[in-house]
Amino acid sequence: MRSLIDILDLSTRELDELISVALDIADHPEKYWDKCAHKKLATLFFEPSTRTRLSFEAAMLELGGSVLGFSEANSSSAAKGESVADTAKTVSNYADIIAMRHPKEGAPQVAAAAATIPVINAGDGGHFHPTQTLADLLTIHREMGRLNNLTIGLCGDLKYGRTVHSLIAAMSRYEGIRFVLISPEELKLPSYVRYNSLDPKGIPYTEVTSLEQAMPELDVLYMTRIQRERFDDPAEYDRLKNSYVLDTAKMALAKEKMAVLHPLPRVNEISVAVDDDPRAAYFRQTLNGKYMRMALILKLLEEAKADPARREREEADVIEDVLYCENPRCISATEQELRHKFKCVNREKKIYRCVYCESKKTLM
Ligand code: NCD
Repeated sequence: MRSLIDILDLSTRELDELISVALDIADHPEKYWDKCAHKKLATLFFEPSTRTRLSFEAAMLELGGSVLGFSEANSSSAAKGESVADTAKTVSNYADIIAMRHPKEGAPQVAAAAATIPVINAGDGGHFHPTQTLADLLTIHREMGRLNNLTIGLCGDLKYGRTVHSLIAAMSRYEGIRFVLISPEELKLPSYVRYNSLDPKGIPYTEVTSLEQAMPELDVLYMTRIQRERFDDPAEYDRLKNSYVLDTAKMALAKEKMAVLHPLPRVNEISVAVDDDPRAAYFRQTLNGKYMRMALILKLLEEAKADPARREREEADVIEDVLYCENPRCISATEQELRHKFKCVNREKKIYRCVYCESKKTLM
């Protein structure tokens, strides 16, 4: 069954197709009113959400389908100790497609392996958030008229900001992209994102700490919230929480044609006065998220109908229960029966990465 766990599960061509379907939905919503009649979307949200869950639900309702689910772990059997795999098997009997958000990295992947219906990753810990990237891509496309030849600044919590990780992966596939990574030293981009997305293609990027200095060269500025819930040490969060505030003075340094995106929610990193600037695209981005989720639900349900027996291909170079993941944020830390799987990323140096959370280990 085709699921969406990582944005790279979709080819560039498929991303372009989703964008054209989403644009058609925006122009002719009535054509899509019955497309998912009698189909059900289950939203399994083990972590808080406003936009992602409600836009998934609105998307399914606007396709003529219905929705069921829960919006916090405490109202599901997870509170009784049920595994993600068992939840996914059960929900496969009640719904046609699942959107899952979970605090552990790799949880939706475990769900997808157990489910008999498509699973969409709606955010797994500080790892990935592919459907936010779909919203981001449509927004960049609509605001800037292109997805290539752009200098993209990403600002704030690049370490735990899962939306940043998925957006870099997606944009790295387009021509002429440059990234400016703006963060405090403590919240720099994790090495696995550099390793997977930037290094193999030689994508140019700079790492800086000053937003003011970066402003004049940016075509897109992607602001993010400092992810309080991912910090082990509250004092460190307090020290870093006011690292960046985008205000009208900083906007005055930017190009006339540029777009400010933010996955939202914002805390204080964009002052409310910026909302009136025509370059502030973050509320339009929330609407784009609904259109892209509609296009994605349609695509995955159509594929599931055409090929219900389809299984994800087995990954090559994966070893099981040889190396053990020690990342407490990984789903393998809590899912008792889960086999520990590592994928070889460098044969010569025997470097492996956990298939769920990408923690690095060397085979001795
Ligand atoms: C983001 C998320 O959940 O990762 N929000 C969203 O899905 N729109 C960003 C955030 O929580 O800061």
